[in-house]
Amino acid sequence: MSGLKALIADDDSSILWVLERFLEEKKIGVVKAENGPEASALLSTPGIALAILDINMPGKDGLEVLREAKEAGSRSEFIIMTAESTMKNTLEAMKFGAFDYITKPFDLGELEIMVDRAIETMGLKARLVNLTERLKERLAHETVFIGKSKAVQNVFKTVGKVAGKDVTVLVLGESGTGKELLARLIHSNGPRSVGPFVAVNSAAVPRDLMESELFGFEKGAFTGAVEEKKGKFELADGGTLFLDEVGDMPIDLQARLLRVLQEKEFYKVGGKAPVKVDVRIIAATNQDIDKAVAEKRFREDLLFRLNGVTVTLPALRERKNDVELLADYFLEKFSDEFGGGKKTLSPKAMDALESYPWPGNVRELGNVLRRAVLLSPGLAISPEDLNLPQARHRKESIEEIITARLRPFIDKTDHKGKQELYDFIMPFMERPLIKLVLEKTKGNQVQAAEVLGINRNTLRKKIKDLNIKLGKLRE
Ligand SMILES: Nc1ncnc2c1ncn2[C@@H]1O[C@H](COP(=O)(O)OP(=O)(O)OP(=O)(O)O)[C@@H](O)[C@H]1O
Ligand SMILES: [Mg+2]
Repeated sequence: MSGLKALIADDDSSILWVLERFLEEKKIGVVKAENGPEASALLSTPGIALAILDINMPGKDGLEVLREAKEAGSRSEFIIMTAESTMKNTLEAMKFGAFDYITKPFDLGELEIMVDRAIETMGLKARLVNLTERLKERLAHETVFIGKSKAVQNVFKTVGKVAGKDVTVLVLGESGTGKELLARLIHSNGPRSVGPFVAVNSAAVPRDLMESELFGFEKGAFTGAVEEKKGKFELADGGTLFLDEVGDMPIDLQARLLRVLQEKEFYKVGGKAPVKVDVRIIAATNQDIDKAVAEKRFREDLLFRLNGVTVTLPALRERKNDVELLADYFLEKFSDEFGGGKKTLSPKAMDALESYPWPGNVRELGNVLRRAVLLSPGLAISPEDLNLPQARHRKESIEEIITARLRPFIDKTDHKGKQELYDFIMPFMERPLIKLVLEKTKGNQVQAAEVLGINRNTLRKKIKDLNIKLGKLRE
């Protein structure tokens, strides 16, 4: 028990004397207080893990000391002592978070059991805190990049080659292909993984704040600079700076960035002395960077500096065989997150995922599956649960589309009695059909009748009966 300390507080010195002997015998260090304020002050002594407090003390009573300490976030365990055991005191002590409560006079055997239990609890708590923190840390740092396609395997090979070195990596790819994730993967597999990973997004930071965002500023550098601020370069010292959407960086800042990368030092805004930093740079963009260079929106010399190695993440539609693996990963992840059992995809739903073009890439796939896991009524996710745009219209027959749309409505209607459902629904089928065809023929009824394959007079009658406003057709 070495290193463990207890605070004992009582205005009765004979009690303090007894407690001190008792604790010393248990190899617990002792700090003594004779009144409330003193007890409060001494509680912050390093190593205090246990406090045994009398209730009735001059200056501040023990319950108050306890309440304040707990409010301030104290992790010590408290045992409260009092001469008179009233229910109010006991309740308050426990309510304020005391470990236990003991009435004087007590015998030391009773106190010993209590102290032992408190110490045991502290050990457990500490272990628990430790474990949760370690777990959190691991999860936060564990970067999983899913993919078995040839393209992704090649990316892994490159990462394997460059992660351990300090070379600058430029990651290219459409939005949502995993550029930031890849940057984290490179960082966490390199020698700087213990250092920070700091991201700065050129597209998200307003143009005139970008400079101080990157380099920080000195106190008084401009109105409003009331305190000095560290920039992302300084924050990333010893780690990795991820220049996200670097293609959107203002051209005037590009020159400055280039100089910093070459010289490995910079001046804060309003700063006189250079700041030296040791950072690894990973940059990413979803822009066509060669085009940006050709159009003079991006400096060629900066591009040369950034693309020590270039990794291109292909769009998801170009690596369809990653879809299933990614889908499994997301299903597992979101099922875990939301509870309620592991959800799976029906074979048709998997087909739908594989034939969808994924303009938003892996991010979109993740979002679609998060929603489906959350909203699908059963454990098996159907194609309807995925609620994919467009693809459904391309692949499904008209009948399937209409059935899917009609089903929720029919499900909700009463199944008994007279409903006149047929007469109610049919105009909703006919009207859009006729309207859409009329829109295509720009209101020409002769043509529309031909396309529809109905008589011109029939069409005229339908337009009237269905109350289709010819003047309101969309162009
Ligand atoms: N291969 C992958 N395995 C697992 N998760 C992935 C993968 N690729 C992307 N993701 C996830 O998809 C989401 C989008 O990825 P990320 O933010 O890295 O994309 P990005 O290319 O930086 O997109 P943007 O250009 O829009 O910033 C993130 O939640 C990321 O964790
Ligand atoms: Mg990104």
